[in-house]
Amino acid sequence: MATFKELINLEKLPSHVAIIMDGNGRWAKKRGLERSKGHEAGAANAHVIAEVAAELGIKYLTLYTFSIENWSRPDKEVKFIMKLLSEQLLEEDIFVKNNIKFNVIGDFSLLDPDIMKSMNHCIQRTATNTGMCMTLALSYSSQWEITEAVRNIAEECKEGKLKVADIDKDCISQHLKTSYMPDPDLLIRTANEYRLSNCLLWQSAYSELYFCEKYWPDFDGEDFYKAIIDYQGRERRFGKTSEQIEI
Ligand code: FPP
Repeated sequence: MATFKELINLEKLPSHVAIIMDGNGRWAKKRGLERSKGHEAGAANAHVIAEVAAELGIKYLTLYTFSIENWSRPDKEVKFIMKLLSEQLLEEDIFVKNNIKFNVIGDFSLLDPDIMKSMNHCIQRTATNTGMCMTLALSYSSQWEITEAVRNIAEECKEGKLKVADIDKDCISQHLKTSYMPDPDLLIRTANEYRLSNCLLWQSAYSELYFCEKYWPDFDGEDFYKAIIDYQGRERRFGKTSEQIEI
């Protein structure tokens, strides 16, 4: 019998996969552990899935890691996650080994200098890598990103660099933090939650959504392959009719 991986059509891979990694806390609670243990397992799993995606040939992987709203979690939890991220970002072997180019999007004004340092170091060290581009959405929220874009567009209009009449869909996309990558073709959310939670709201206008009941630390390579197979069975119409797509 064919494995899930063998069922994937490599000619029709999604170019960009985004993941809302949810369920670390519940994963830990189910095992009678502290929430921090769930975040540790979640961070380790982010590396596993990044390797799986890179090896498969995905060009862009975006991991929704920490939202602006997550800053209002208990101080102890926030501190733990930031420490974990800072340590994880120093583990560059996985990026080097898999030729992954690393990037981060988010409101950096809220981040600690230590994490900024680890982040920038990792971005610079992987800048010439030519494989998958992995982006962490960290201290990120779509509404913040869109507000920033609107502000910048207004400034450019005020300075005469941009005409109001030239503001269109592409202009807005170009002013978002994600301007260097295509919109996600597939957006996966784990842990039995069915919402976007301020993740890539503009960019996911025509993303295929895939929900998985498993908690993030349990979401493995096979689950990733299953999501890709499901995606490949969808008909992407972008507002057109089936008949138009078949032509
Ligand atoms: C989601 O689970 C997890 C977060 C919002 C925290 C941060 C994510 C990680 C530590 C994993 C990614 C790490 C790297 C290195 C990319 P939750 O706490 O919301 O779970 P719950 O809904 O079950 O409480």
